[in-house]
Amino acid sequence: MKCTRRQLIEGTLAAGATLLLPRVAVAAPRASRPVEEPAAPPGEFTFVHLTDMHVTPRRWGDKGYRACIEQVRGLRPRPALALMGGDLAFDGLYTSRARFEEQIRLYKEISAGLGMPYYHCMGNHDVLGWSSRRKVPKTDPDLGKKLIMDRLEWEQSYYSFDFGGWHFAILDSIFPKQFSHGPGYEPRIGPEQLDWLRYDLGAAGDRPKVVVTHIAAFCNIGQTHGDPNYKAMDGHMVLWDTKELRTILERHKVKALLQGHSHRIEEFFFNGVWYVTSAAVSGAWWAGSWVGSAPGFTVFRCSGENLTWKHHVFPWKPHLDPQDTLERKKIAEQAAFEREQHRLLELERAGSGRPHR
Ligand SMILES: [Fe+2]
Repeated sequence: MKCTRRQLIEGTLAAGATLLLPRVAVAAPRASRPVEEPAAPPGEFTFVHLTDMHVTPRRWGDKGYRACIEQVRGLRPRPALALMGGDLAFDGLYTSRARFEEQIRLYKEISAGLGMPYYHCMGNHDVLGWSSRRKVPKTDPDLGKKLIMDRLEWEQSYYSFDFGGWHFAILDSIFPKQFSHGPGYEPRIGPEQLDWLRYDLGAAGDRPKVVVTHIAAFCNIGQTHGDPNYKAMDGHMVLWDTKELRTILERHKVKALLQGHSHRIEEFFFNGVWYVTSAAVSGAWWAGSWVGSAPGFTVFRCSGENLTWKHHVFPWKPHLDPQDTLERKKIAEQAAFEREQHRLLELERAGSGRPHR
């Protein structure tokens, strides 16, 4: 079945299609109140992908996240569920345990206001201290994914569930690795999880399928920067086992892989699968837009076996701290770039300065 990519026009679908219990243990869906709408026909519903919210009291990030949740709650048709794409808390890699715990608490409290089931995906900033710059002892018993999973009552870091005739698989792209400085991670799915995925998708049969990862399979950062030496795979921008993952997705006719991590909207279609990166909810970590992507999220519509989507923004003005010098510089650079783009557009439309040929 062909996956149609077109802009989602606000429709008249009601959310609340029959929720099938997750087939693998899943982060318990949270709902602040029951979904009120009547059940929609199977395969007719919308859902949201919220990623890279980096919830923190710094830069009013908690208020920003509340503004996002309010925007989602106001969507009509009301989405049936939310897929949370990772980097839920601001950071556990380089942050004290107490601050990280407060960020997780805020994420949990504010997300509960969604009023719909929501499902966590692991981000690299959601692990405690898997970095040489950690601010916790290497011996902390909650190092790694344990702390956030305990606090969110999240039983398995990768899992799947069915909803409305569709199958959803949530991946964990933060692969543990031991370094000389202590525990860390590599951006990969890993052979064990890939084995789980291929049989999970196989058991889902002909159901249309969506898969979620935090670290993207594809990110064109080198091309967008115009820098041949800026290779996504050299760093931690994309998965190191994209080839193994994509062949599984292709084989099982997955409609789309939803991605995060890069904080920029990107879409890429290859061998029948869409790779959709949503804007970060936090934009530039709550300091405005990041390379043109304003704080936002994506609304997906499942209709029969077709998947369509539209990127959304929500109104948010950055509130920087006095020490945010670099962020002020970035915002000023982006504003200057946008002014120059506007100036060139006006010039080219007017035809002034046109070279003779
Ligand atoms: Fe990330």
